[in-house]
Amino acid sequence: MIQVHKLSKAFTVHKKDPGLLGSVRSLFRREQVVKQAVREVSLSIEEGEIVGLIGANGAGKTTLIKMLAGIIVPSAGEATVLGHVPWKRDDRFRQQIALIMGQKAQLWWDLPAADCFLLLKEIYRLPEAQYRETLDYLTEVLGVREQLNIQIRRLSLGERMKMELLAALLHSPRVVFLDEPTIGLDLTAQRAIREFILQYREQHRPAMLVTSHYMEDIQRLCERILIIREGELIYDGSLRQVMEKFATHKRITVHLRPDKPVPELSAELRALGEVLQRDAELVKVEVPRADVPAASAKLLQELPAADLVIDELDIGTVIERILSQRAEVPASELPASEPSAS
Ligand SMILES: Nc1ncnc2c1ncn2[C@@H]1O[C@H](COP(=O)(O)OP(=O)(O)OP(=O)(O)O)[C@@H](O)[C@H]1O
Ligand SMILES: [Mg+2]
Repeated sequence: MIQVHKLSKAFTVHKKDPGLLGSVRSLFRREQVVKQAVREVSLSIEEGEIVGLIGANGAGKTTLIKMLAGIIVPSAGEATVLGHVPWKRDDRFRQQIALIMGQKAQLWWDLPAADCFLLLKEIYRLPEAQYRETLDYLTEVLGVREQLNIQIRRLSLGERMKMELLAALLHSPRVVFLDEPTIGLDLTAQRAIREFILQYREQHRPAMLVTSHYMEDIQRLCERILIIREGELIYDGSLRQVMEKFATHKRITVHLRPDKPVPELSAELRALGEVLQRDAELVKVEVPRADVPAASAKLLQELPAADLVIDELDIGTVIERILSQRAEVPASELPASEPSAS
């Protein structure tokens, strides 16, 4: 459904010296700087897939999504979405995709949601019966019936986001781009949005590309992830494989009995792993998986323990490590990307 071949985007920005003098000077002599936001990205996404796009701030996620949604034109490379070249913006293309951006309100601020939806019905020329049915269904699962007649500007962030989702899906798109759909929402609203996305996927089997800085979103929604670093796609494959390869350690936390001095750790224990924290309340160490039993026993023996907890590294930590270990983890070290079926 989505095919991308060596897609790149470079932005040219005019540099300006700071201050008023700089502004005047730049009127005469403009220095240009080229920012390579996306570098030769290739991928393909099939029907029914929810693919997570992960990367640090400024990595190029939004830029990639905007190209695929046809909002900006790439500087090189090719892409087709449902057989269309997105940036040509054919009507047929626009009728079959949706772009939802958590950072940016797309609905008409001063209208109640119900009126926004009516306008969209006209824009997409949706047949009355189909419109009613979709609206009913979406309103029901998103739980926003009560808010339909309230001006968008008066809704809470979570309610507004649900309306944005509803609006974007009214025309039953076959490809959905979600750029930080849960940003700024409380945990309950985040969960509601995630559950909705999963339910929508079951019903409609669209191809979905999702970005989020919340690892909970990625973990619950996506089996497959794309990791992008400085515009370059450095991993395309299953989330499980990344975790297996990189979550090589576990964390052991010992909660200490109160009113004891902060304990020293023996050299033997320190040799087993890295001490992440040691204070009056707890001692936390990270050790290779194989050493967990030995380290736990040793910790219990040496420390006045009240409780002991063993945790897997969470996916956020793992991804952070992959992203930051530029030198230590060359792309070839990453688990082999699964060949994506086209
Ligand atoms: N219109 C533009 N003009 C110039 N530079 C731009 C433009 N849009 C994006 N960039 C630059 O391209 C890079 C990638 O930006 P992009 O918004 O795609 O990042 P992102 O991965 O979505 O980050 P975030 O997680 O913060 O949303 C950044 O360095 C950004 O400053
Ligand atoms: Mg972004």
